[in-house]
Amino acid sequence: MGAMCWPSESELNVIRTKVAEMSGRDSKEVKVVESPYRICPLGAHIDHQGGVVSAMTIDKGILLGFVPSDDSQVLIQSGQFNGELRFSIDEPQLPRSAAESNNSGEVKSSSSSHEEFSWGNYIRGALYALQKRGNHLKKGIIGFISGAEGLDSSGLSSSAAVGVAYLLAFESANNLVISPSENIEYDRLIENEYLGLKNGILDQSAILLSSYGCLTCMNCKTKEYMLIRSPELNGNHTNDVMKKFKILLAFSGLKQALTTNPGYNQRVAECREAANILLHASGSKELEPLLSNVEPEAYEKHKDKLDPNLAKRSEHYFSENKRVIEGLEAWESGNLEKFGKLISASGLSSIQNYESGCEPLIQLYEILLKAPGMYGARFSGAGFRGCCIAFVDADKALDAASFVRNEYRKIQPELASQISDDGAVLICDAGDCARVI
Ligand code: GLA
Repeated sequence: MGAMCWPSESELNVIRTKVAEMSGRDSKEVKVVESPYRICPLGAHIDHQGGVVSAMTIDKGILLGFVPSDDSQVLIQSGQFNGELRFSIDEPQLPRSAAESNNSGEVKSSSSSHEEFSWGNYIRGALYALQKRGNHLKKGIIGFISGAEGLDSSGLSSSAAVGVAYLLAFESANNLVISPSENIEYDRLIENEYLGLKNGILDQSAILLSSYGCLTCMNCKTKEYMLIRSPELNGNHTNDVMKKFKILLAFSGLKQALTTNPGYNQRVAECREAANILLHASGSKELEPLLSNVEPEAYEKHKDKLDPNLAKRSEHYFSENKRVIEGLEAWESGNLEKFGKLISASGLSSIQNYESGCEPLIQLYEILLKAPGMYGARFSGAGFRGCCIAFVDADKALDAASFVRNEYRKIQPELASQISDDGAVLICDAGDCARVI
């Protein structure tokens, strides 16, 4: 456990007081789910192909205060969105595409914007996942959910943090004992089936498994994971690797939800198409078309059969897998310089091979690479919007943050003006896994 400063007692009290008001219960009865945001230093965009990924959480995230209801009713309000959501847990949940054609959304809001109307999808998705796996829920929850200001839709996986928070709250209210591995699968049902995003299991694995001081490593094909502890160089805390770096979050000002951006699912389809061609060429066409089913030697032998775009997506997959493996060793031996270089190389591959960036994010990445004390940087999350993450020397973090803020403002004045000066670059520490307190 590190010296965690999130959530603060005052943040928790705000949530507890709010839920006490909503439910008429004593604030001491209110439980809070802490569900942190995640970063993926190495392993971008290979989880959906069954690759090996690395991840950790940061000391910021989603808080969901709740009490079990007396009956099956759910009542939820949000700190970021207007309106409130009411429904019964006895209602069978359908994937969103089916539910929308039945016109069943019911967030009551003074505004009819799509975003406000749809914030309730995650709690319904959590219920969908629990129902689908045969859990019998008796109690709803009365709850209030709140994310860190300005960090939604930023590529830190606020959506998985929200999904996990609702799962943990329903499970706690109904005394269900569900393992982290099962919850990884439940969150997959929310994202892949309920919301229709073809993503992998990186986000929820990071949120559910991470432990301060460790790098989480998940094999997305076998679902086996390891927590790789950083070395304390000589047992003296001032030499602890965890104290030698800070995580910078540098925001581009671009926001767009993944489920409304076709880029993500399109890249997944391209990877599958490439896998299909390579598997056919290497005589393994019976295997599911995932790049993790293609042996690296078969890729080398048959890559000339891929058109240029599919060749680039595959090159990203195979080179990123190698970077993850090298990165795990670098982390374990406390070699932050090497770890950082691999992160920046991963960022470059996202730009050149996976082509998931956009101009402002690429500019931000390039600025970060020039910042004082920089170990390494890359886009966060899907990389179509949101922020870049960077590992930076702890002693130079403040200088790096102001360098990045100033340089980005010079080349993207309009986007930069949409972010407050305080919020443009945040300095964070690593975090822990999601939990109910
Ligand atoms: C999003 C997806 C993840 C993963 C990352 C990119 O966060 O939800 O499954 O693919 O993008 O690494």
